[in-house]
Amino acid sequence: MLTPNLSYANLKDSYLFYHIAQKTGAWLNEHPGARLYRMGIGDVSLPLAPAVIAALHAAADDQSVKERFHGYMPECGAPFLRETIAGYYGKRNVSLSPDEVFVSSGASDELGDLLDLFDRSNRALIIEPAYPAYVDANIMAGREIVHLPSGPDNHFLPLPRPGIEADLIYLCSPNNPTGAVFNREQLAAWVSWANARGAVILFDAAYEAFIEEDLPHSIFEIPGAETCAIEICSLSKTAGFTGTRLGYTVIPKALERGGLSLNAMWVRNRTTKTNGISYILQRAGAAVFTDEGQKQIHANIRIYKENARVLMAALDEAGIRYWGGKNAPYIWMECPGGMGSWEFFDRLLNEIQVVGTPGEGFGACGEGFFRFSTFGDPADTREAASRLTALLRKI
Ligand code: MLT
Repeated sequence: MLTPNLSYANLKDSYLFYHIAQKTGAWLNEHPGARLYRMGIGDVSLPLAPAVIAALHAAADDQSVKERFHGYMPECGAPFLRETIAGYYGKRNVSLSPDEVFVSSGASDELGDLLDLFDRSNRALIIEPAYPAYVDANIMAGREIVHLPSGPDNHFLPLPRPGIEADLIYLCSPNNPTGAVFNREQLAAWVSWANARGAVILFDAAYEAFIEEDLPHSIFEIPGAETCAIEICSLSKTAGFTGTRLGYTVIPKALERGGLSLNAMWVRNRTTKTNGISYILQRAGAAVFTDEGQKQIHANIRIYKENARVLMAALDEAGIRYWGGKNAPYIWMECPGGMGSWEFFDRLLNEIQVVGTPGEGFGACGEGFFRFSTFGDPADTREAASRLTALLRKI
């Protein structure tokens, strides 16, 4: 008889954002006609940039003409997009060859799929609080997880220390959920730790476009990263592609383990397991990196940053400690009055109809904290901030 993957028994009953969607759905059923101010999941509220829409239309037209029609696309990405993305890194003095860039359907899909490259016996080091998919994907793969807690004492940016035994390490910077960003020296410490022990860093750069201070956008700005890191990025948050789906992964050719090239292994994997990303979406993705596209996506990012400013002002007025918001689209606050994070979630939902994300959902050390996404509609965010101010006065 077939044996299912028994590791699923080690997962929580449901995935964090699915659980929240179910909870808020149930609340809406009990309160017909009520409206919610959603600042939970980091889903964008602004439409795609005009340059992206124009590229989507033009690419759809290409598909209607025999001479410009595209069938299967190259599994690792269209050359035009791989070159464009390599050029984007080049502007930050990171020199990549286009075949070190793989076009993907998004960072979350890729973070799970990449685990195919590593043996189950490898231990995964996850800095917590963490994006819950890191943990869940490794549990599904039956891999041992080493949890490295972080907190206000180290500004949610822990560094390697003796005694940490792991083979794969997840670094997310700017961080989801805390908004903390590693500086060059801190990343250099992780790079030298990984190179010294033959570990591999999975660097999640999904929020790099939100950095406004002089901080690294890519692990490959750090010398030595090319022999120990894979970078995963996405256009979801950068360019509003959450519902459109496009991302990219960088695997340097210099990255080898056990005598094997991880770049060549990933080519083998993609050519077997995918038929590439659609031509239309890859044209849309390329439009993001044009001068016009960059100007337009940064105009949207400025709107999300104004949302962050409004929320931070509400927390400042209430005297609540928080992190993030400046170089990241998330605000990570301390729950008021020592409240638990799910209790605070329920109070926000029931009393002011605001939805956020309880810190406990990002790992045990997230208990007592709460995350707001700044990707909401600006008018909703202003209303939510004023309701939050009123509630925090009462608590
Ligand atoms: C989040 O809210 O943490 C993200 O939107 C989830 C994701 O990117 O999948």
